[in-house]
Amino acid sequence: MALPKSVLLIISGSVASYKSLELIRLMRAEGITVTAILTKGGAEFITPLAVSALTGTKTYTDLFSLTDETEMGHIQLSRVADVVLVAPASANIIANMAAGLSNDLVTTALLATNKPVLIAPAMNHKMWSHPATQRNITQLIADGVQLIAPTAGDMACGETGVGRMAEPASIMHALAALPATGGQPLAGKRAIVTSGPTIESIDPVRYLGNRSSGKQGHAVAQALADAGADVTLLCGEVNLPNPHGVKVVRIHNAESMLAAATAALPADIFVGAAAVADWKPSITAPQKIKKQNVLDILTLEFLPTVDVVASIAQNPQRPALVVGFAAETENVIEHARAKRQRKGCDWILANEVGAALAFGMDENTVTLISATEEEHWPLASKRAIAEKLVSKIIQHFNTAH
Ligand code: CTP
Repeated sequence: MALPKSVLLIISGSVASYKSLELIRLMRAEGITVTAILTKGGAEFITPLAVSALTGTKTYTDLFSLTDETEMGHIQLSRVADVVLVAPASANIIANMAAGLSNDLVTTALLATNKPVLIAPAMNHKMWSHPATQRNITQLIADGVQLIAPTAGDMACGETGVGRMAEPASIMHALAALPATGGQPLAGKRAIVTSGPTIESIDPVRYLGNRSSGKQGHAVAQALADAGADVTLLCGEVNLPNPHGVKVVRIHNAESMLAAATAALPADIFVGAAAVADWKPSITAPQKIKKQNVLDILTLEFLPTVDVVASIAQNPQRPALVVGFAAETENVIEHARAKRQRKGCDWILANEVGAALAFGMDENTVTLISATEEEHWPLASKRAIAEKLVSKIIQHFNTAH
């Protein structure tokens, strides 16, 4: 694990605050320098003294103090660490962050930082699932904040549900997964990515194709390579430069894409971002189909093509993580959920496509669907979506092993 060297830990008010003491202990054991800010709410649960005893340094509190500002101003405080971690993150601090408020040291530091920010929410399950909290989380994710999702279980209030702060060990994994601080967290992992359209020939000059630009798949391949993975990109006809440090294999139709994907196994990660043609003409004419008469109607019969992602998911050498995309024009989430199961993918990224959506555009909005979670990622560049997916992948491998 490649961990950051220093962390600014913000402890807000929650029963889970006691877990941040264990978290500090784990970070210190890894040699991480920890500076803490305890909010007023956090100080209701644990004391600055207990925090300082573990960090070995001064603990800051909510209030602006002239001495603190002279020693280290809030701007500097927010920037000296490699990472800002809010754990536990209460509903209140999440709302403040989403609104961009700066009414105390914590919120000011969060606004002033130029470092990656992670939040580990902790709250009652009703508070977590409340539309206002979910709206704030969606906003924070869009702002680039990394979410360490809360888990399900019994709560201090006696109720049961999702809202418990992630365990300190999981938070350590999330810290190690940060691309900015983790160096090459996917070094040693092999990845196969499909991208762009496939075409099926009707005759030597005509084909059945689709409007995929390949932008999303290429961005995923680049982000995986940047994280240190050994990436093979299988791509159809696209008008894009090859990603750096990636092995690119050009393919035409569904069958050759599957053959190339199978040949690239074994791999740890498979991401199917290609828009694979679903049908092929039952016969590919060896010569150009000629019109006998200008009014001739041409009728073609189509057969289904092979399903690349489903075949890879069933392969005896199945990669540990198989990710598909679902391009939908209606009932996006329901169709994508069913598609994930039908194709045997671990995750599916659902996106709405249509005349002015997704295909060919530089931005995309997706929902990541797994067997256990659904996370909506609001409109962002395809590059940002790719980077977010890769952070999720890194986190997945760190937690799984
Ligand atoms: N896919 C594939 N092989 C196919 C068709 C699709 O590998 N023959 C993959 C795509 O790369 C994507 C996922 O399956 O990761 C879903 O593709 P999509 O076009 O959304 O779904 P379809 O399988 O075409 O289903 P439908 O046409 O019913 O929406």
